[in-house]
Amino acid sequence: MPRDRRPIVDPQLPGGRGDGLGRPLVLGPVRLRNRFVSAPMERNYCEIDGSVTSRYVEYLARRARGGAALVFAEAAYVRADGKGRLRQLGVDMDARVPGLARLAAAVRAGGALFGVELNHGGRTAQGAVSGFQPVAPPPSRACPPVVNCRASCRPGRCTSWSKRTRKARAAAARRAWR
Ligand SMILES: Cc1cc2nc3c(=O)[nH]c(=O)nc-3n(C[C@H](O)[C@H](O)[C@H](O)COP(=O)(O)O)c2cc1C
Repeated sequence: MPRDRRPIVDPQLPGGRGDGLGRPLVLGPVRLRNRFVSAPMERNYCEIDGSVTSRYVEYLARRARGGAALVFAEAAYVRADGKGRLRQLGVDMDARVPGLARLAAAVRAGGALFGVELNHGGRTAQGAVSGFQPVAPPPSRACPPVVNCRASCRPGRCTSWSKRTRKARAAAARRAWR
């Protein structure tokens, strides 16, 4: 079998025989076939407009076929002004749902569950990439200065920021769920 097609959970290894990392894991309603998780990793494989590409589908599907039980997509921006990378995955609008469904189907066909990391870049968002002025809570002493969303907020505690991004995250979560 070609090297990159070999499952990472080899049935000959102790983990593959039902103990150690090969053991299934039940987390509430979710059952993972083993304890291997493919962590979210920025790849920049999407279109510039944030939509899914065949390259990205195949990239994640290979991780599922490789034996991981749960495969995460990269940090995906929940709102256009939170975008930090040119070819980052977007979950910022309903038009993303078919692309997300494609990713989920490909990962599931490989035997794994699919997860999406919801992200708003905040102070790390890139205006040059998103076309928006970055917004973030007022900086704490430890952070570099950024654009404040409300000058009256106390450092590190911005209620209007929290509320606004919470809404965007909730909407993105509903899209990813569909
Ligand atoms: C190329 C690369 C991209 C990453 N992108 C993300 C990301 O989008 N979101 C995230 O939460 N972590 C990201 N990480 C961190 C990984 O998910 C992971 O937490 C880190 O590599 C440590 O994993 P390990 O403990 O298995 O070594 C990235 C790491 C790498 C190497």
